[in-house]
Amino acid sequence: MTEHSLWPRRTPRLELRIPSLDDLDQVLTWRNDPAVTRWMLSTTVDPDSWRSAWLAGADDPFDHSVVAVLHGRVIGTGSIEVADAMGQGMRAPNAADLPWRSAQGSLGYLLDPTVHGRGLATEIVAAMLDLAFDLGLHRVTAGCFADNIGSWRVMEKCGMRREQHGVQDSWHAEMGWLDGYTYAILAEEWRAAAPAATAVRTG
Ligand SMILES: CC(C)(COP(=O)(O)OP(=O)(O)OC[C@H]1O[C@@H](n2cnc3c(N)ncnc32)[C@H](O)[C@@H]1OP(=O)(O)O)[C@@H](O)C(=O)NCCC(=O)NCCS
Repeated sequence: MTEHSLWPRRTPRLELRIPSLDDLDQVLTWRNDPAVTRWMLSTTVDPDSWRSAWLAGADDPFDHSVVAVLHGRVIGTGSIEVADAMGQGMRAPNAADLPWRSAQGSLGYLLDPTVHGRGLATEIVAAMLDLAFDLGLHRVTAGCFADNIGSWRVMEKCGMRREQHGVQDSWHAEMGWLDGYTYAILAEEWRAAAPAATAVRTG
């Protein structure tokens, strides 16, 4: 499957697509807003390096990163990065084909602050989970600061499970050591529980 055959995807209100240069410039109009960077690990970005990193990722089969468009305006991003899960047989002759190879996705999302609180991140996350499990992944995980309530609410609304509460496991540049959460969902759980309200159409 090529990256271009996977997109665009539509949610009830959004189109998710591989960004053009203009789309990336639209993201940059809000990407460094303090309401966005407050809980991000990658805080303020340098526009040129950020743009180059996105363009480099376009050819990376393990990086599925898209923008979300509402009424012609780029209002969010979503990403799934594919990696090996934990597994036995690393030195076996068939190690490259074992089930844990490229079995896990790491989810990311962010939204233009002018449209926070309207359920749009929930649509982006649902579409990224749909993509991940269409790709055949076994499991998707994401982490967040425990105080980023909007973020973990979005994951819970999409059926993800809190699997770890790490006490002071996450360092914040202004607040120091804070608690973090890890969330996850399995392919079969998503198929059984994908919220109807966030149904995704492809093509
Ligand atoms: C986190 C983020 C993606 C949420 O986007 P959003 O579009 O506002 O999310 P939604 O509207 O889909 O859902 C947010 C939920 O959290 C709730 N929420 C948000 N802030 C809250 C708070 N301080 N206290 C209680 N609930 C809160 C909302 O009420 C909503 O839940 P509900 O639908 O049950 O009422 C967005 O704020 C964002 O992009 N933040 C900056 C980047 C970021 O933090 N990304 C995640 C990194 S882990």
